[in-house]
Amino acid sequence: MTAQEIRQAFLDFFASKGHTIVPSAPIVVKNDPTLMFTNAGMNQFKDIFLGEAPAKFPRVADTQRCLRVSGKHNDLEEVGIDTYHHTMFEMLGNWSFGDYFKKDAIAWSWELLTEVYKLPADRLYVTYFEGDEKEGLEKDQEAYDLWKQYVAEDHILPGNKKDNFWEMGETGPCGPCSEIHFDGRTDEERAATSGATLVNADDPNVIEIWNNVFMQFNRLANGSLQPLPAKHVDTGMGFERLVRVLQGKTSNYDTDVFQPLIQFIAEKSGKVYDREAIPTGKGEALNAWNDAVAMRVMADHIRAISFAIADGQLPSNNKAGYVIRRILRRAVRYAYQYLGFKEPFLNQLVPLLAEQFKGVFDELYSQKDFVQKVVLEEENSFLRTLEKGINLFENHISKFDSVTSLNEVNLGEISGEFAFELYDTYGFPIDLTELMARERSLTVNMEGFEAELLKQKNRSRLATAIDTGDWVMVSADRPTHFVGYDLFQTETKIIKYRKVTAKGKEQYQIVLAETPFYAEGGGQVGDTGVLSPERYKNMESQNSEDFEPITITDTQKENGVIVHYTDRINPNIDLSSTFYVSIDPGKRMLTESNHSATHLMHAALKQVLGDHVAQKGSLVNPDYLRFDFSHFSKIDDNDLEAIERIVNQKIREAIPLKEERNVYFKDAIDRGVTALFGEKYGDYVRVITFDENFSQELCGGTHVKNTGNIGFFKIMSESAVASGVRRIEAITGVIAENYLSDQSKLIKQLREVLKNPKDVMVSVEGLIEENNKLKKEASKNLQAKASGLKTEIAAKVQNINGINFIAEKVELPNADAVKTLAYQLKDIVSDLFLVLAADFEGKPGLTVMLSENLVKDKGLNAGTIVRELAKEIQGGGGGQPFFATAGGKDVSGLDRALTKASAYIK
Ligand code: ALA
Repeated sequence: MTAQEIRQAFLDFFASKGHTIVPSAPIVVKNDPTLMFTNAGMNQFKDIFLGEAPAKFPRVADTQRCLRVSGKHNDLEEVGIDTYHHTMFEMLGNWSFGDYFKKDAIAWSWELLTEVYKLPADRLYVTYFEGDEKEGLEKDQEAYDLWKQYVAEDHILPGNKKDNFWEMGETGPCGPCSEIHFDGRTDEERAATSGATLVNADDPNVIEIWNNVFMQFNRLANGSLQPLPAKHVDTGMGFERLVRVLQGKTSNYDTDVFQPLIQFIAEKSGKVYDREAIPTGKGEALNAWNDAVAMRVMADHIRAISFAIADGQLPSNNKAGYVIRRILRRAVRYAYQYLGFKEPFLNQLVPLLAEQFKGVFDELYSQKDFVQKVVLEEENSFLRTLEKGINLFENHISKFDSVTSLNEVNLGEISGEFAFELYDTYGFPIDLTELMARERSLTVNMEGFEAELLKQKNRSRLATAIDTGDWVMVSADRPTHFVGYDLFQTETKIIKYRKVTAKGKEQYQIVLAETPFYAEGGGQVGDTGVLSPERYKNMESQNSEDFEPITITDTQKENGVIVHYTDRINPNIDLSSTFYVSIDPGKRMLTESNHSATHLMHAALKQVLGDHVAQKGSLVNPDYLRFDFSHFSKIDDNDLEAIERIVNQKIREAIPLKEERNVYFKDAIDRGVTALFGEKYGDYVRVITFDENFSQELCGGTHVKNTGNIGFFKIMSESAVASGVRRIEAITGVIAENYLSDQSKLIKQLREVLKNPKDVMVSVEGLIEENNKLKKEASKNLQAKASGLKTEIAAKVQNINGINFIAEKVELPNADAVKTLAYQLKDIVSDLFLVLAADFEGKPGLTVMLSENLVKDKGLNAGTIVRELAKEIQGGGGGQPFFATAGGKDVSGLDRALTKASAYIK
């Protein structure tokens, strides 16, 4: 079977067992502070497991794109070295939400593997949870008994908490699990050693292919386990491993999932992919191994990079963006160092990959040009620092004895600090630094490096640490109901609250049964406002402290739950009472105006620039809107004006808002509604329309009731944010009005200053021209004056001890003019010791000029002299040995300075 057929067979099988096939969620996670990337198929169902959202279907199945490169599940260091770990991988999964449990899950996984995929039962091993005393968990006898119906007893193995109790992260849904392993060794090997001893023992040929988790608990922040409201099934099968097993290969990279990429890399590098290469050889054999690892790394990493970018995560210097940047650099380094790709190459894999995933994850195909361009730019910039880093390295090691050929002597050690600088500033992975050191018979102080790394980690941990307490329940738990599309205020109850500490600041999170507060999303900032208990009503405030309501400073969404933030909960408040909750309406309305204007502008951008424009980021707050989108060049002023005009035209048309809250997703897409890449949409979506022929977008945000409410739209700036991504910032309504009114005031003032000319531009241009002319004339006059002075002053020379000494006060307007004069005097007077004093409109200045021979032969120094003289004018200065200047505060000291100079020379 081809990979494509294998994937389809999985989905068809579970569809035949009553499962609804759902799309993969994006690989980049939004709205879950515990996770950056999707690390398991179940992530998108987390809130269903926790009982915070209802399940739309009792049974679903899908293939989910996952990334395990950070947090609890991290395989990055293995990737490329071994044959069965990946950064991005597909996880085939089937789920039961409070529906079937262990019996059906086990029966179906066995049926699919042995009857549909026809894997030989004697090569399969299954595991079950042996229990854990510390956690108070019993052994999973039920799973054991169920497996016994299908599997020989010596193929059913107990497993400990590490292998057989699956957890999503430090907190969240978890439960005992049952894994299925496949023994892919030869018959001789199998006869010699039982596969049972190799399960979960890192044997590259006895590997886990499927995990069936029986979700029963929620791991809380305090480490304890809380039973879930219902029991669920969560399974995950590694697609690339399954394909390898079914295609009879010993490496995931030998399947049709990876071979097209690997063969392309091999061809372009002019090398051969040697799948048999082993790491223990020397010379040629070692090269073959390094090449093979490099090809695997590239073929693997480009998948993670491409899908992350397609799902909206651009490489950057922090958080998820930095993870992507590091993966990309790891791939580029391998390509550069082992495969000789000194120019960007990785990006050329993007079109190939996009083609491969057409019909599976179309997000990549529809954005392949954009993704390729982003990768290309990243490669370009890293290749530049890679080279710089290598130069720095060469400089650094030049202090050690030079060796030209590899030998066994250790000539010295590179400090941990330097290795860390290469790592941190130039993006050098430490193994690259070590290898380069080895080639010169040097070592790297790894302890020092680790210490620096730890310091940095601690710094960043402190900067981002969030300490969450457990929820305190106030009233019965039910999902939050958002009423803010229709209401600005409502009456409701607090469900729960908890304390969180981030960056040393304490805050509280509050969940309400019903809320008009919009949680930050789709670029729109969260609402602010107040929660006041019922008893405040009709009560005169005696002591304002007692009556301080809860001030909501922000509203965020976590896994579908709307969380309100406050800095303080008044201890006198009875939290179980009914609350009057109300948002800040002024802020909301300004924000809505910017949000609706963003939609109009998005449509206008497509009209003016073309259909390739896709949203890449958005911020909508009460003050302005910021919109990032894919486009490859600077937008010229004509286009910007056209965009502005279209938006303002649509505002004047006063188009009423059409808001549809429950459109079937597929219908919306068929209607041509704009959807965003990297968003997880449900089956039913909300569509915001301003004129069916102009702007229709999937959107959860809040909007003006009529485009006329926006009033006016003005673009403030257009700039680049990343390769292929432009940014427009704009303002609307009263803020735009104020801006224009300020501008017109400014022009009015300008006209007045210019004495109301007919044409301001002509008048200002005339002034600039005249000013330049006058400047030129002034400078000519000065030159003339200086050269007149030159003869006058040269005549005052006194010969003292064979030195031609001049000390004079001159009337020149600035230091430049004095300098010109000094140089001219030096040209005509030999053996010159010149001191000039000048008064620049109340500021004293001194200049000392010496002929070169006085500096050389007599050891005189203009800098030292001017500093000494400057004491008389309460100042200081310096310069070169033959020319120096000083400024000061006391003009009356100029004469004293000149006297001092003549005393000195005498
Ligand atoms: N969530 C389980 C896993 O990722 C299936 O292994």
